[in-house]
Amino acid sequence: MISYKEIGLVNTRAMFAKAVDGGYAIPAFNFNNMEQLQAIIMAAVETKSPVILQVSKGARNYANQTLLRYMAEGAVEYAKELGCAHPEIVLHLDHGDSFELCKSCIDMGFSSVMIDGSALPYDENVAVTKKVVEYAHKYDVTVEGELGVLAGVEDEVASEESHYTKPEEVIDFVTKTGVDSLAISIGTSHGAYKFTPEQCTVDPQTGRLVPPPLAFDVLEAIEKKLPGFPIVLHGSSSVPQEEVDTINANGGCLKAAVGIPEEQLRKAAKSAVCKINIDSDSRLAMTAAIRKTLAEKPAEFDPRKYLGPARDNMKKLYIHKIMNVLGSNDKLING
Ligand code: G3H
Ligand code: 13P
Ligand code: ZN
Repeated sequence: MISYKEIGLVNTRAMFAKAVDGGYAIPAFNFNNMEQLQAIIMAAVETKSPVILQVSKGARNYANQTLLRYMAEGAVEYAKELGCAHPEIVLHLDHGDSFELCKSCIDMGFSSVMIDGSALPYDENVAVTKKVVEYAHKYDVTVEGELGVLAGVEDEVASEESHYTKPEEVIDFVTKTGVDSLAISIGTSHGAYKFTPEQCTVDPQTGRLVPPPLAFDVLEAIEKKLPGFPIVLHGSSSVPQEEVDTINANGGCLKAAVGIPEEQLRKAAKSAVCKINIDSDSRLAMTAAIRKTLAEKPAEFDPRKYLGPARDNMKKLYIHKIMNVLGSNDKLING
């Protein structure tokens, strides 16, 4: 059993309380490799932002859970080397799908876990979430639960159909389980193809697809039921069109990729939404830079020469999200 406190990580409790009060959201960025992690930490240090490092099932399969956990420990020291005396870094399990997995992450030093029982019948979701909370809280690890189902077509957590969170269920769920934060479904979804062209309208000036708005009425109803309670938004990539265009101009083929407009995320961040999950945008930024570099320098074969620009492009994206969308810059508790 390793305590996350010994390795300089923090849980989400204090940072969420400050974010809800302050009307901003903490970035939760997924990482799978060193360049992503470096870019996240550089961006967080430069902007003086707290940050949540997320490890998904896909990341665990790709990079190994143990290795990722030691990379997060390294990230704390790296942030200090970059000049941040008291970094606020959370190591979070994204979409944990069983008690055993959550326990194994807690035992190896994660400071926060998500137990995603959203696809289960309500009572089973309550039961497994409560079991994770009881174990996690013994070690002061915070827990995110989920109610409602996000639609999506791309990744391992996708579901065919979305079901908005039912506001009438949230008090019962939070009370029975004891979760520290709640992920809700209000129209976001995972991946780079969040909406079909039929669900969108077309901007006559740009010809771009405009997605339907998020269900802010559902968010408001949930906030009324749970005043000040930390709310989480998954599936919050915006799918920047310039990255999609760069990918397509350099041999890629991403058709009709569409995300959540940043103005809507900014509006959500000002409410009780205090954690916003972004993964796909980082994938796009990385892929765009790699494709461009290799197209411009076809003789290049040193990975540092294309992963370096990819890292720079991801860092730029993370800084933009922190400063212009989530508003978590200059919000370190001991900053
Ligand atoms: O929520 C999903 C994240 O984007 C992680 O996806 O399982 O493909 O790593 P992944
Ligand atoms: P995106 O696919 O929109 O980046 O969502 C990521 C996410 O929700 C991770 O849990
Ligand atoms: Zn997610």
